[in-house]
Amino acid sequence: MPVVFDSEKRVFKLDTPSSSYAMKISPTGYLLHLYYGAYVPDTDLDYLRMRQRNAAFSACVASAEEGGLSLDTAQLEYPVNGSGDFRSVALSVRGANGSSVTDIRYRSHRIYPGKPKLEGLPATYTNDDSEAETLEIVCVDELTGAEITLIYAAFSKLDVITRSVRIANTSDKPFSIERVHSAAVDFTEMDFDMLHLQGRWAKERTLVTRHLEFGLQGIHSRRGSSSHNNNPFIALARDGYTEESGEVFGFSFVYSGNFAAEVEVDCMRSTRVLMGTDPVDFAWKLEPGESFQAPEVVMVYSDHGVGGMSRTYHKLYRFNLCRGEWKTKKRPIIVNNWEATYFNFDSEKLVAIAKDAADLGIEMLVMDDGWFGKRNNDKSSLGDWYVNEDKLKGGLAELVRRVNALGVKFGIWFEPEMISPDSDLYRAHPDWCLHTEGRERSIGRNQYVLDMSRKDVRDNIFDQMYKILSSANIEYVKWDFNRNLTEVGSELLPPDRQSEVAHRYMLGVYELLERLLAAFPHLLLEGCSGGGGRFDAGMLYYSPQIWTSDDTDAIERLEIQYGTSIVYPPSAMSAHVSACPNHQTKRTSPFKTRGDVAMAGAFGYELDLTKLNDDERGLVRRQVADYHRYYDVIQNGDYYRLINPTESKGDMTSAAAWESVSSDKREVLLTYVVIRTQPSMSRYIRLRGLDPALTYTDTESGRSYSGALLMNAGLNLTGFWRDGESRVWHFTAERK
Ligand code: DGJ
Repeated sequence: MPVVFDSEKRVFKLDTPSSSYAMKISPTGYLLHLYYGAYVPDTDLDYLRMRQRNAAFSACVASAEEGGLSLDTAQLEYPVNGSGDFRSVALSVRGANGSSVTDIRYRSHRIYPGKPKLEGLPATYTNDDSEAETLEIVCVDELTGAEITLIYAAFSKLDVITRSVRIANTSDKPFSIERVHSAAVDFTEMDFDMLHLQGRWAKERTLVTRHLEFGLQGIHSRRGSSSHNNNPFIALARDGYTEESGEVFGFSFVYSGNFAAEVEVDCMRSTRVLMGTDPVDFAWKLEPGESFQAPEVVMVYSDHGVGGMSRTYHKLYRFNLCRGEWKTKKRPIIVNNWEATYFNFDSEKLVAIAKDAADLGIEMLVMDDGWFGKRNNDKSSLGDWYVNEDKLKGGLAELVRRVNALGVKFGIWFEPEMISPDSDLYRAHPDWCLHTEGRERSIGRNQYVLDMSRKDVRDNIFDQMYKILSSANIEYVKWDFNRNLTEVGSELLPPDRQSEVAHRYMLGVYELLERLLAAFPHLLLEGCSGGGGRFDAGMLYYSPQIWTSDDTDAIERLEIQYGTSIVYPPSAMSAHVSACPNHQTKRTSPFKTRGDVAMAGAFGYELDLTKLNDDERGLVRRQVADYHRYYDVIQNGDYYRLINPTESKGDMTSAAAWESVSSDKREVLLTYVVIRTQPSMSRYIRLRGLDPALTYTDTESGRSYSGALLMNAGLNLTGFWRDGESRVWHFTAERK
């Protein structure tokens, strides 16, 4: 039973295979957090509470409780504003009397198998009810009539607890939610590193680690999307952890808009973690009878270090977040024409690429930006989703027919949320973009952002997309998004609801995605935002793969994919072999290395196949064969990071290495890439996750090793390596 309620002690305990999470109801109805960590059988956990009053300055509530209750120092399950908890809080509600003092007390709870859907939002789900159990705790703020339901689901086979919050107005007056985090956890210590993934365009998700300090630390996005800059994820790793050992607590937000992860260490050395929608410029008015659903936070506990946490996220996001047939169906090898042609293409050019794709075993051609309106550069036509017949002579259906006739599938690019000022759509509806009356409209990449909170706007875009997608055999859509949101205002909402627009925008995008998938259930959707600017768990609910970065340089991709793998599975990371010198870095790296690096994700090509020489064509054939040969172990295996490419040891060759191990441990794929070589250097690499008792055979050399040997002594990589050189080892152990 993942959820236990000890009615005598009034303690709730949520158990996963290796973790426990506990809270109690105080005599006066406060929910007090008791414990989060390794599995414990006990429910008698009240002694863990911090009872300190923090000298004379602490105000105490609930005098009926033994010795009073200082909210200043208590571990609180869902901290609220205004009654003596001076840390950052999870919830603040401004009532009809103008005050934002909020006070919530336990009223009831229920426990049931499975996991509920979250209205209008992406969220993890169970494939059958035995996979998780849900606890809903209803708390009430008597004065405002705010009814707060804290929703927890504990997974039975993974160390995962999900959190979200629903707020209902049960009074006869409106109130305003001014801050609502989806999860709060009060830890009793501060001896942790905080891990997060920071970056920028073409350099997304670099793993950053810093030790907690007193005071506030955290990350956020106020860009209207989860952003290139801060991924909606943090972890606390207890001192002494490593990649494969020690305790790590992960927090990942299933949301693609503004978010905040606030970590605060107080004077008692206790640490509060809050995660939710960013409170800055957020407010949500609830009329009587209305309710608000906050997005989900996925908490993962690992006692096998950062790697253990990642493998849990990978499994959960692959099987309990991604949906539809493509969550497990083998993905096609794609060739995308963006870096091959940019805007300069026509049907003949695309068919020529498709011919080579067919010859080389590449399975799908994706036509990127530039096929619609009169778009020959990035200055026009977003919003005009009709075919440019000057480029696609004979039309789209004819092009797709020709490509399909070669045995190649067809995919297409859209940027549905954007509008160019130079477009028929903008000329007809200048009020359809996000804007604030009296303010200049900021422009980014020559485009404005459509007001996706409006149904009429979504209907128009849906109808246009529907027409295109049903006009030909289109099996894939790349959904791009290429600027941040500014002047976030909507013409249809009243002044007191303008701070709802950023969240309503996201709800609108999710609704449109859902509508599209309902209309085209077999479509493979690839998310994209100028590369990986919206690479988050929210988008994975709709698109099982996301373009990882606009930086296709194999060496840069080592770091980007390393960071991305901290949370997201290989099947989610779209990765392509591109031409050299690389368009983003001007670096030249071996064609083989480019293939080995891209093969760690959803594999494809981003170059002009018609320009490859014979050697390169031979390598493509080999890569295509390898992709099919290794697909299962890469996509379904457990992922281990062996060498961190961002870690430069100075006296040692800088390199990257990662490994996939099949679930029965009988197949292993190891990839090693040298970034900067050094002479006279020795290097051994120890494998992980094998069965020490099995004998593993290198399928290329035929040499055998025990699993124990590979994990304890490892492979000897000493020798001469060139900059950018890579090697892949494939081991199998006999299946009984
Ligand atoms: C940004 C994407 O990341 C690229 O792959 C490409 O689709 C361009 N947009 C097209 O404008």
